[in-house]
Amino acid sequence: MTNTELPIAITGVASGIGAATAALLSGAGATLIGIDRTVPAAFSGTFVQADLSTPGGARAAAAKVAAAAPQGLGGLANIAGVPGTAPWRTVLGVNVFGLRELTRALAPTLAEGAAVVNLASSVAFQWRGLAEACARFSLAEDMEAALDSVSGDEHATGESYLFSKQCVRFLTERLSAELLPRRIRVNSVSPGPVQTPILEDFKNDHGRDKVEGAAQLLGRFGEPEDIARVVAFLLSDAAAWVNGSDLRVDGGLTAYRTTGALVAG
Ligand SMILES: NC(=O)c1ccc[n+]([C@@H]2O[C@H](COP(=O)([O-])OP(=O)(O)OC[C@H]3O[C@@H](n4cnc5c(N)ncnc54)[C@H](O)[C@@H]3O)[C@@H](O)[C@H]2O)c1
Repeated sequence: MTNTELPIAITGVASGIGAATAALLSGAGATLIGIDRTVPAAFSGTFVQADLSTPGGARAAAAKVAAAAPQGLGGLANIAGVPGTAPWRTVLGVNVFGLRELTRALAPTLAEGAAVVNLASSVAFQWRGLAEACARFSLAEDMEAALDSVSGDEHATGESYLFSKQCVRFLTERLSAELLPRRIRVNSVSPGPVQTPILEDFKNDHGRDKVEGAAQLLGRFGEPEDIARVVAFLLSDAAAWVNGSDLRVDGGLTAYRTTGALVAG
C-alpha cells in the first residue's frame, strides 16, 4: 500500500484518526513509528512518547524517530492536533509549529519518493484569503515571538483552530515546494466532522446545533476510517503525481454549504 518498505511515522496514534490510520497501515503490512503525548491502548510498532506543543519537543521526537528508522522513512503522517477549546497558544503551538518542526527535522530521514500527509480541516477552505498572514506566522523562526506577534489579533486568538488549519494549508504547499527537489510529496487532508473525542470540543467551539446539523444533512458523521483510507492513499504510490494538494473529505458538506449560499444569493 505504501511506496517503500521503509517505516511510516504517524503522530496522534493514541486516538481517533491517527489510531485508525495506524491500524489500517499496520493491517496492510507497514512498519510503523507512532508518536503521541499519550501512550496508546493499542499500537503495533515502535512508540515514541512526545509533546509536540513546542519546536523543541517536536525536534526531540524527530531525533527518536530517526534513531528508530536507520534506513530512513517511507512517509510521515502529521495527524496529532488539538481543538479550539484548548488555550490558543497551545492550539497554534501543536497544530502549526509542532507539525512544521517535526516535518523539517525529519526531512533528512525521509527517503526519496516518500510522502508527507498533514491533517488540515474542511473549515479552512478559504485560507487563501489569509495566505500572507499564514505565511508570516507559519514561517517565523521563533515560535514565542510569532505567538506574541498575533496576541492582539482576534482571528488568530479567538478562532485559533481555524487559523491553525489555514496555516496547515499554507504549510502543506510551502513544505511541498521545499521538498520538491528531494522528490518528497507533501499533501493535506481536510476532514469534515468525524466521530472522535475531538468532536465534543468542536460542538462546544463551533456550536452544538451547527455540528449536529451537519450529521443530519450528511446522514452521519465521518468515521476515523473514512479519513484513514485517504491518508493511506496520499502516502502511497497510487498518489505519485499528487503533490502540494488538499483532499477534502467531508461527505459533501462544504460543497452543499458554499453553493447553497450562492444560490440563496
Ligand atoms: N475529528 C474531526 O472532526 C476532525 C475534523 C477536522 C480535522 N481534524 C483533525 O484531525 C486530526 C486528528 O484529530 P482526531 O479527531 O483524531 O482527534 P483526537 O483527539 O481523537 O486525537 C488527537 C491526538 O493528538 C494527540 N495530541 C494532542 N496534542 C498533542 C501534543 N502536544 N503532542 C503529541 N500528541 C498530541 C492526542 O493525544 C490524540 O491522541 C487533528 O489534527 C484534528 O484537528 C479532526
